[in-house]
Amino acid sequence: MALWAGRFSKEIDAGVNAFNSSIAFDARMYRQDIQGSIAHATMLGDCGIITKEDSQTLIAGLQEILADIDSGKLAFDPNAEDIHMFVEAELTKRLGDVGKRLHTSRSRNDQVALDLRLYLRDEIAEIRVLTENLCKVLVRLAEQHTETVLPGYTHLQRAQPVTFAHHLLAYVQMFLRDLGRLDDTAKRMNECPLGSGALAGTTYHIDRQQTAKLLGFDAPMANSLDGVSDRDYCIELANTLSILMMHMSRFSEEIILWCSWEFKFIELDDAFATGSSIMPQKKNPDITELIRGKTARVYGDLQTLLTMMKGLPLAYNKDMQEDKEAIFDAVDNVKLCLETFTPMLETMRVNRENMRAAAAKGFINATDCADYLVKKGMPFRDAYKISGTLVAQCIAKGLTLETLPLEEYQKMTPLFTEDVYEAISLETCVKGRVSEGGPSPAAVAKQLVLAKAKLGME
Ligand code: ARG
Repeated sequence: MALWAGRFSKEIDAGVNAFNSSIAFDARMYRQDIQGSIAHATMLGDCGIITKEDSQTLIAGLQEILADIDSGKLAFDPNAEDIHMFVEAELTKRLGDVGKRLHTSRSRNDQVALDLRLYLRDEIAEIRVLTENLCKVLVRLAEQHTETVLPGYTHLQRAQPVTFAHHLLAYVQMFLRDLGRLDDTAKRMNECPLGSGALAGTTYHIDRQQTAKLLGFDAPMANSLDGVSDRDYCIELANTLSILMMHMSRFSEEIILWCSWEFKFIELDDAFATGSSIMPQKKNPDITELIRGKTARVYGDLQTLLTMMKGLPLAYNKDMQEDKEAIFDAVDNVKLCLETFTPMLETMRVNRENMRAAAAKGFINATDCADYLVKKGMPFRDAYKISGTLVAQCIAKGLTLETLPLEEYQKMTPLFTEDVYEAISLETCVKGRVSEGGPSPAAVAKQLVLAKAKLGME
């Protein structure tokens, strides 16, 4: 018999019960559900809404249920409507009438809003640690590669020289902003909906400050209708996670390219790659492809939540039960990706020689060649044209700017002298890019200091 059976003359249809039930996916919030109920029972006792004795009995009963679920002694009833009904029914089974007092001045509407906030708060803390670990691994890797020259690309065409450290630190900056977004999300989420009741608060003189405090919230939510209606915290988290996935996905795309024979900038550790069932030579970067694929899935979760909420009148509507599978899917997949991506990066082999060889081709010092003339007094546009003409000559002759004879340079302008070779060497081109945030080892050293400070490293 359902806990709400009073108004009904029939048992619920079995198919409808299964359709309606959320225990299959909300059981994972049992800890938070019990934690919330313990705070509620404590407050009811302190406010004299139930006796102290009943309050203590309820708390002890809830603690026992928690221990029994944790130890596997108590299994979830798949026919229960949701985790909230399951815990309450179990409590009443164990305590009799006292158990029936727990739900005084509370609704499942504020209860579910509370449980989800508590649950996601814990998940954000875990994702935060995983993202921080990823940043730390990237920083450590960057420290080893401040002199490793790599072609920087635009339009996937070799553009200007950077270093591998500089490239990695670009991702560190993105992930650091993701950490900031996680913190913002957690901060805004940290208000307590408990005490909103079904939608219109309660006539009991409850103490919402107390429950908010007991549960580690900054404050109770200011409006009871909002307290039970809003799911913007799920949407905000799904958005934060989508951006995090987008960053991981772009990085994954680069890893996929870098693993190819065409690039061969890196090689994944055998433990982090897969083979083909038919082609014996294959070593596939499946992890990174899955991260790219799962990014689509997390975006889908965000879309689900946005679309699910867009037409709902205040206050609670059952549509909102769909929030959980979407946000849990996003959270689970982000965690899986971070847990796999980080050790994959930590163990991959970096092929400095191939990075350098790629940097030596593709005329990525053509801008520096123009800048050489600018430093000797020529306007940049004229210098740009000469450098471009020289590149075209090199392509026609199968040469590079480094191997083009000085006479050819001097035919363009006598401003070219022997020192041009030094000016356009890859080392000079990288070391010279000293602007703040640039790739020179000196500028990267400063970026490393800042990133490490933010991550509390060393
Ligand atoms: N299982 C429900 C959910 O996840 C709990 C809230 C039910 N409230 C209600 N009035 N039916 O949204």
